Amino acid sequence: MTLVSAAPVAAPAYDLEGWRRRIPLLSSLIPLNNCSQAPITDDTRAAAERYLKSWTERGMDWDGWMEEVRLAKAEFARLINASADDIAVFSSVSEATSAVASAIDFRERSAVVVTEAEFPTVGHVWLAQEKRDARVRWVPVGDDGTVALDAYDAVLHDDVAIVSACHGYYLNGALQDLTSLATRAHAHGALLYVDAYQSLGTVPVDVRASGVDFLASGNLKFLMGVPGVAFLYVRPDVAERLRPATTGWFGRANPFAFTIKELDWAAGASRFDMGTPPVINAYIARAGMRIINEIGVPAIRAWLETLGERLITGAAARGLTVHGPTEMSRKTATTAIVVPDSHHMEGAMRERGVLPSARGPVIRLAPHFYNTLDDVDTALDVLSSLLT
Ligand SMILES: Cc1ncc(COP(=O)(O)O)c(C=O)c1O
Repeated sequence: MTLVSAAPVAAPAYDLEGWRRRIPLLSSLIPLNNCSQAPITDDTRAAAERYLKSWTERGMDWDGWMEEVRLAKAEFARLINASADDIAVFSSVSEATSAVASAIDFRERSAVVVTEAEFPTVGHVWLAQEKRDARVRWVPVGDDGTVALDAYDAVLHDDVAIVSACHGYYLNGALQDLTSLATRAHAHGALLYVDAYQSLGTVPVDVRASGVDFLASGNLKFLMGVPGVAFLYVRPDVAERLRPATTGWFGRANPFAFTIKELDWAAGASRFDMGTPPVINAYIARAGMRIINEIGVPAIRAWLETLGERLITGAAARGLTVHGPTEMSRKTATTAIVVPDSHHMEGAMRERGVLPSARGPVIRLAPHFYNTLDDVDTALDVLSSLLT
């Protein structure tokens, strides 16, 4: 099944060397841990400093700071073909998922379909709803490390309130097709919640074309940002009929009305907003997402298909075992290689100048727009030399 193919290219369609000069870490390490934490750039550092300058010189600037949060929402919206009004801001994906869950009335429909490929925090949020009458129904990960569409069909019935699926599997980068999932969920009257943390910034996403109801992501991975900020897209017509119980004063129609006894709802996704937003994180997040939008996700994807194919063929040539799909059309930027002790391997590779990301039984090599073919060749050489 082909999910995404941007056709690999011989060289990026953007100024690779120019972008590399804006990433100080490249002078000492090869970062291939973008599925965990992307490196700081001159742009994201400047954004943090802009906030600190404003705080230092103005004491406080709530209007300016809230405008920055709005612009960060707009930058996130641009990534997924939405508008800023369709976006709410949180401090983590866990919090965003909890807010979505809190808006569902499980007395009407009790089943929640959740894949085993979700990052555990997402599963935990849905399991926690069992005290609110929800019943979690798992969709298994197959032996090939992917979730089959048939496996959804086996558990999707008209008692399902919501389907919770990741776009990219955090362990091995397996992609799921959002349009197929939305069509399936909607055919049973269920909503679709998508965690796109492992794909956003590297795989084109169009929430309008795919028909998803919710889509969340944090910012520290391929969006080049920091911990402490996450965004949630809510489809406008869905937002209008939901009342999240996980809420706060920024979810009100007018947060500054200070009417304690009135629980009204902001229009659109803003009703999912919580308390005072993470301002410095939003400054950095906006700058990180602007890099991605400026280069353009299709151009990034095309280069990552080239790097990903090099990783897959290079792993096979060195006798390494790849976990999950081995066609780039079915993968995010992440390639997972099975190793005996991934944490030890992460440390040993770091000592040799390559920064990968250990997760369970695998070492994840997750290049981004700034990586080169030499980077991925070196990482594979280092990894295979440590295994022999
Ligand atoms: C796919 C995915 N979802 C969620 C998370 C965690 O989200 P948060 O810590 O923002 O709740 C991760 C994290 O590392 C992830 O890879």
